[in-house]
Amino acid sequence: MKPIYGHPLRPQFHFTPEANWLNDPNGMVFYEGEYHLFYQHHPDSTVWGPMHWGHAVSKDLVHWEHLPIALYPDHNGTVFSGSAVVDAEDTSGFFDGKAGLVAIYTQTEMIPGTDLSKQRQSIAYSKDNGRTWHPYADNPVLADERFADFRDPKVFWHEGTKRWIMVLAAGDRLCLYHSADLKEWTFASEFGAQEGSHDGVWECPDLFALPIEGKDGLAKWVMLVSIGDEANCPEGSRTQYFIGEFDGMTFMNDNSPETVLWMDHGRDNYAGVTWSDAGDRLLIGWMNNWKYANLIPTDEWRGAMTIPRRLKLRDFEGQVKLIQEAPEELRKLRQEVVEWQDERISADDNLLDGYKGELFEIEAEFELDTAVEFGFRLRVGESCETIVGYDAAAGQLFIDRTKSGILDFHPQFGCRHGEPLGPVNGTVKLHIWVDRSSVEIFADEGGLVMTDQLFPHAGSDGIELFAKGGEVWLRSLKLYPLKSIYAA
Ligand code: FRU
Repeated sequence: MKPIYGHPLRPQFHFTPEANWLNDPNGMVFYEGEYHLFYQHHPDSTVWGPMHWGHAVSKDLVHWEHLPIALYPDHNGTVFSGSAVVDAEDTSGFFDGKAGLVAIYTQTEMIPGTDLSKQRQSIAYSKDNGRTWHPYADNPVLADERFADFRDPKVFWHEGTKRWIMVLAAGDRLCLYHSADLKEWTFASEFGAQEGSHDGVWECPDLFALPIEGKDGLAKWVMLVSIGDEANCPEGSRTQYFIGEFDGMTFMNDNSPETVLWMDHGRDNYAGVTWSDAGDRLLIGWMNNWKYANLIPTDEWRGAMTIPRRLKLRDFEGQVKLIQEAPEELRKLRQEVVEWQDERISADDNLLDGYKGELFEIEAEFELDTAVEFGFRLRVGESCETIVGYDAAAGQLFIDRTKSGILDFHPQFGCRHGEPLGPVNGTVKLHIWVDRSSVEIFADEGGLVMTDQLFPHAGSDGIELFAKGGEVWLRSLKLYPLKSIYAA
């Protein structure tokens, strides 16, 4: 393992920059066998600053190769979030009739003598599989002086109207545009000023169609919108989504304007967007929260991505919801499984006595009985543990990181938070991923997801199973110790 990945808090199967600051994933596109991942990056510091696009590629969504910085600040400003597309038909004219990659991103320029900035959209193209990028000579391509916040363009090809569509965040709403050539953009519609959660500024939208599982070709459109942190909101920054229809001009929400659907019920999944041109709809999020992102206790690097997730839609008795699944590609990290079946767990049992480790994938199915609470204690050490549990009385899945290790960098980091989860046929199924400084839970077959960071004290490698106030049936448990992606 390279020494830079040896730090006790350095994620071992999540993407991190080699050094310095990372925030949002950007410009994800699959092209000629490579998944490209660009990201908001400050190459000179471990706190947020003048933004660049860092760059990495992967053939399997698991192992990543770091590449040189793709986009640098220029006379139009620093380089904020955005997207990238394959321009297969050379609609832009950048590629001499061949195919190439076009990135569409926000440039932020300070207005001299003030602390205000202008945000405008620029484009850049690459003729060599994303290795070098050329900002377009006539940047910026889209401005609207009415909005101080006007950023994070997500662009996709709309087959129905045979045009490019851009959706971007404008403070408390989204603006949609269309274009024939990625250079000239025409306003189409607005969405959202009166819909969903407005707990914070709207950022990083995404819009795509997905089939509904088992509904024979029936599809819905999904609009993702991240919302920024507000001091009086304990959850901090998080991502909501809307389900509806899109006709090439306007997005129509299927649900009432008050309905709020959260993509992840944990504290640390923000600014997630999906890969363009990947076939399946794959998402990755920034595994952090603006509430404390600049303060998390890592040096050398600061910031990680979630594991990639494959997105689906499922109809839960008339309510269509987003489903997230860990991609199968991650299975290659599994080491030899340890399995149990039909064990009755009471307060004194720790079936996992003797098992130790920092990196695990866990698949567990519990049948409720008399226990009022049960689950796992992870990354256990001296006065240190993170609980992933089910509170049977409240019918809630929860993460308790009040004793998870280093907490003192922010007063709201050490918290317990939960989300209602009804048992299905009396059972609760959990799929859990544990890395050196995070836990991701997929419950309800991917219908309820929670992602949290944790910063355990070095050497906290215990893992325990627990039941409180009674007993629970462990119908099945598979525990896979995982290999590091940096292992030889
Ligand atoms: C979201 C965000 C985006 C912006 C970027 C700046 O986390 O605030 O709206 O483009 O980060 O780094």
